[in-house]
Formats: sequence, structure tokens, C-alpha cells
Amino acid sequence: MTPVSIKLDRVSKHFDHTVKGQVYAVRDVSLEVADGELLTLLGPSGCGKSTTLRMIAGFEEPDEGTILIGGKDVTHVMPNKRGIGFVFQNYALFPHLSVFENVAYALQVQGRDAASIARSVSEVLELVGLARYERQQPHQLSGGEQQRVALARAVVFEPKVLLFDEPLSNLDAKRRVEMRDEIRSLQKRIGISTVYVTHDQEEAMAISDRIAVMDQGVVVQEGDAESLYYRPATEFVARFIGRANILDGKVISATEVEIEGLRLRVATRRAPGEVVRLVIRPEMIELSSEPGPGRIEERTFLGEKTDYRVKLGAETLQITATDHYRRTPFDVGQPVSLHFHAGAIHVIDGH
Ligand SMILES: Nc1ncnc2c1ncn2[C@@H]1O[C@H](COP(=O)(O)OP(=O)(O)O)[C@@H](O)[C@H]1O
Ligand SMILES: [Mg+2]
Repeated sequence: MTPVSIKLDRVSKHFDHTVKGQVYAVRDVSLEVADGELLTLLGPSGCGKSTTLRMIAGFEEPDEGTILIGGKDVTHVMPNKRGIGFVFQNYALFPHLSVFENVAYALQVQGRDAASIARSVSEVLELVGLARYERQQPHQLSGGEQQRVALARAVVFEPKVLLFDEPLSNLDAKRRVEMRDEIRSLQKRIGISTVYVTHDQEEAMAISDRIAVMDQGVVVQEGDAESLYYRPATEFVARFIGRANILDGKVISATEVEIEGLRLRVATRRAPGEVVRLVIRPEMIELSSEPGPGRIEERTFLGEKTDYRVKLGAETLQITATDHYRRTPFDVGQPVSLHFHAGAIHVIDGH
């Protein structure tokens, strides 16, 4: 299959009953999904992820903007003419039909002949690891298996693009991780351009080529997992993706900021004397038992890592240690020194 690109150009949508004073469900969203790429829309509940996805599918019509699939303007094209495979949160399987019949349905609607339907369905059930389940009914399957049927159903008619709306929300934690790996490997194998929606940052990081973080109807930042994690554009992104220390620092020079009397290396274009917002990830600070300005306030052993809460002047920092093999734990009340890894500090330029 030849993958096709998806493009949203300044797409907006409002609903008359939109709640909480947020007028637009989606506002001025521009996105591009390259051929064969998996782009995730990530953000808290109500930020406009589903509305964006539903506009790509054609279930909602934008108020403004255009949507292109494979370079073709589909903004006002009916959903069934867009070549979209859609996987929902609730699998919406037909309860009284077998696995085979559930998957065959879309092809029967297209009027394909029985022999070719049987071939396609068998192939796709093989692809999602359900070859032996043809005759089962949905209620005889686990949640993960039901979701695979939904996946088979979405890909059986060879759509040009795949859309997922929180497909794993109904599964337990272990199955969620398994299924997200399966979805990812299937998506790569068929090489199909995909938009995936989730509110779970870890899921987004695990599954995506690129992530678009949404807040209140707008895309606040777009990039791969590493760039969002290490170079968040706003405080919202810094807090939403991973854990973060966010604190004020004073610019000393183009290469130094000061936090609580500590001078730390960072490259910044902001003027000396300016107060800036800084993001420091908990694992980018190393503790040492050499007495220093830090004081351990709390220790939480979590197996592969230990989380410390450390007082530094008026600030309280979260610091994660994973180097258990080479040091004894620090005690509550113990004075410690803090060592900031190169590149530990990121200056936030947005809001
Ligand atoms: N059919 C609708 N009618 C009215 N308001 C809607 C409708 N669908 C979504 N909204 C509103 O639009 C905003 C974005 O919703 P949605 O796209 O479902 O967010 P998400 O999927 O990120 O949770 C929310 O404020 C929601 O209440
Ligand atoms: Mg949603």
C-alpha cells in the first residue's frame, strides 16, 4: 500500500453548547501527518482531540479551514468516501455477530463477493493474531481481543489512513501496554498514515513518531517525544509530559542562571537580570553526600528508582536517583549537594 499524507490547514470548530466558556472546541489547528507516520493528539479531557479526529473522519464538519488526505481536499466529503479506518474507545462490535461476521460486515456493505470477503477477512484476522477466533462472539472475548477485532474491522477494507480515539481506555494497565505495542507494530507493518488520540502521555510517547499537545482547542506544541520532554515550549507542556521541577531563575549572563544562590549553566537569549521560568527534570539532578545547600525532606523507594524531595532555599525539588548500585540512600534531614547534568536546565519561552 502507498501511504498518503494528512493535512489540516487552520481548522476551527465550535459547538453552540460548548461548556466552560470555551467558545471553540478546536481553534485554528494546522497539522501534517507525513506518509506512513503516526501522529498523536495528546491533551487533557475536553481539549478538542476527538473533535479534531472526527473532522478528519468527516463525522464533524469544520467551521473554517481545510482538510486534505493524499493531497485531495476532503473537507466536505462524506466519511465513507474518505478511505478512513476508525477505531473507537468502545469497540462498538455487533454483539450478535461472530468475529468473522463483524470484520466481514464493512466489505459486505461494499457489495464484494463472498470468496474475496472470506480471503480478506482471514488475512486480516491473521494479521491481528485472531485467526483461531473466527466463530467466537464478542462476549466470549477479552477486552484486548475485542479491541483487535475492532482493529481488524478498521483495516480490512484497506483504508488510506487510520484513526484511533483512545482505543485502550477500557483495558487494564498490562493489556494497555501490550495492545499499544501491537498497534504500533501493525501500523508500521502496513505503513499506514495514522492519527492517534490519547490523554495518556506515556502511551503517546511509546507509540508516536510525533506528538501534538493540545490545550483548550489549540495545538500548543508539536514534536517528537524527546523534544517535548526536554524542550517544552510552555509550562503546560512541561507539566503534562513527565514530571518536572518548574521554578524561577535569574539570568546572570548568556550562559548562566541563578537559582537559590546556585549558579547554573544554561544557554539563554534572555537579558541579564531577567527572571525566567526554568524546567528541570527530576533525573537530571544528581545528589551527593558532600554537605551542601540541599536538605533531604522525603525519600520514596520505588524499586528501579528512588524519589527524593529536596529543599533548596525557598524551593522544593523532586529528584530521582536510579544509581542504587553505587550508593547508599540519603536519609531524611541529611544535607546534600546538588549536581546539575549538562543540559539539565531548560528556559521556557512561552507561557
Ligand atoms: N457534539 C458536541 N456538542 C457540544 N459540545 C461538544 C460536542 N462535542 C464536543 N464538544 C465540546 O467541545 C470541547 C472539546 O471536546 P472533545 O473534542 O470531545 O475533547 P477531547 O476529546 O479532547 O476530550 C469540549 O468542551 C466538549 O464539551
Ligand atoms: Mg475525546
